[in-house]
Amino acid sequence: MIPDTVVETGPPAGAGGDACTTPKKSAGAYATALLDTERQRPVGVPGAAPRPVRSVGVVGAGLMASQLAMVFARQLGLPVLITDLSQAKVDGALAWITAHLQKLVSRGELNETAARELGSLIRGTVDKREYANCDVVIEAVFEELNVKRAVFAELEPLLRADALLLTNTSSLSVTAMGHGLAHPERVVGLHFFNPVAVLPLVEIIRTGNSDDVSLATACSLARLLGKTAVLVADTPGFAVNRILTRLFCELLQLIDNGADIELADHALDPLGLPMTPLTLLGFIGPAVQLHICETMHAAYPDRFYVSTSLAAIADARLRGYLDKSGTVLPEAAALLPAADVDSDADAIKIRILDALAEEVGLMLAEKVVSGPADIDLCMLLGANYPRHLGGLTPLLDQSGASRRVWGKDFHPGSGFAD
Ligand SMILES: NC(=O)c1ccc[n+]([C@@H]2O[C@H](COP(=O)([O-])OP(=O)(O)OC[C@H]3O[C@@H](n4cnc5c(N)ncnc54)[C@H](O)[C@@H]3O)[C@@H](O)[C@H]2O)c1
Repeated sequence: MIPDTVVETGPPAGAGGDACTTPKKSAGAYATALLDTERQRPVGVPGAAPRPVRSVGVVGAGLMASQLAMVFARQLGLPVLITDLSQAKVDGALAWITAHLQKLVSRGELNETAARELGSLIRGTVDKREYANCDVVIEAVFEELNVKRAVFAELEPLLRADALLLTNTSSLSVTAMGHGLAHPERVVGLHFFNPVAVLPLVEIIRTGNSDDVSLATACSLARLLGKTAVLVADTPGFAVNRILTRLFCELLQLIDNGADIELADHALDPLGLPMTPLTLLGFIGPAVQLHICETMHAAYPDRFYVSTSLAAIADARLRGYLDKSGTVLPEAAALLPAADVDSDADAIKIRILDALAEEVGLMLAEKVVSGPADIDLCMLLGANYPRHLGGLTPLLDQSGASRRVWGKDFHPGSGFAD
């Protein structure tokens, strides 16, 4: 059963949108109140004073690391040092940063002097010994536990004893990353979302070993970066990726079993989500999402499915199931069974919403986050779910999914389900 939770309700307001498909307007008011109040004070931040941060190290010079370097330099005005395995990779990241700064200048968001100053804050090297003076080092290397553990083991003797060690992992165990370290108490997860400059959410993951000062410093960093932090337990996929991956798994299982791909991908359109699931999957990348599905399947084999078509698409290095215009790629269609003429969009929508209600209920029972409001903050700010849905849990109540799965609402008495 879902646990009894503190209920946050928005003021009752008139119905908005299509009452059959979207929650009443109070869900929007609930979301607005949530964003106004919760943004500033994540639940569970320790009272300890954070350590000062004067310089930042970023390990890996790939997609996320380059963006992280930019955001740390731009928001905090701090020197940032990036490393990778080869000078070519480091140079590639520095070139991306230079080009990005030029783009900001051409858009009028920065002047030339500011861009030059920002650029000069970011340096790159292949020599990790240069992290010796950093107050914080965040790793953003490949999403492989062994690689990340090797990076932490390599870094530990090079860093000051009080330097904070962060990981940007999307789904792996932060606790396991700290195993074998002399100082696992300084390891904390700080999970940013792509694009880093745009999505305001950071999931902060405390392990059983993280000490209060390390956690307080991570929370303070998130706040200084202008991000909204949600504290999330160290469980596979944390919050946003667990929910999105459950959604992908349901949809892909249906498609692998013959549901019409276009109809299935558009089954959630009436909800007004920012994009269809297969469009989102194209942005994430088939190989990355397959990897997350495998991680989640290993943890929860009964609920998370590893799609045969997704594996084939990743293997064939396709950009996803859809082309840039949203049309199903013929190469992807060729990997699927003949479409079932009886596919029913409404039944697919109900199946997906019920699966999400199940997952959210289990997450609350496992105390992955402190309550439904955190789930909603995560989906509003980390997955761009629209305010009119209230994030996710008001939608699950309004659609009846919470009651079908758990026999009660996530927000009893709020009016979302009336
Ligand atoms: N891509 C996303 O949308 C996204 C979003 C949130 C979090 N993440 C997480 O961020 C991390 C990085 O993802 P990415 O997409 O930027 O990966 P990426 O493949 O673009 O970059 C990883 C980089 O790490 C480097 N690297 C590997 N081993 C190294 C080592 N020992 N020392 C230094 N550098 C090393 C690689 O050469 C590569 O340049 C992953 O944990 C991923 O799960 C990714």
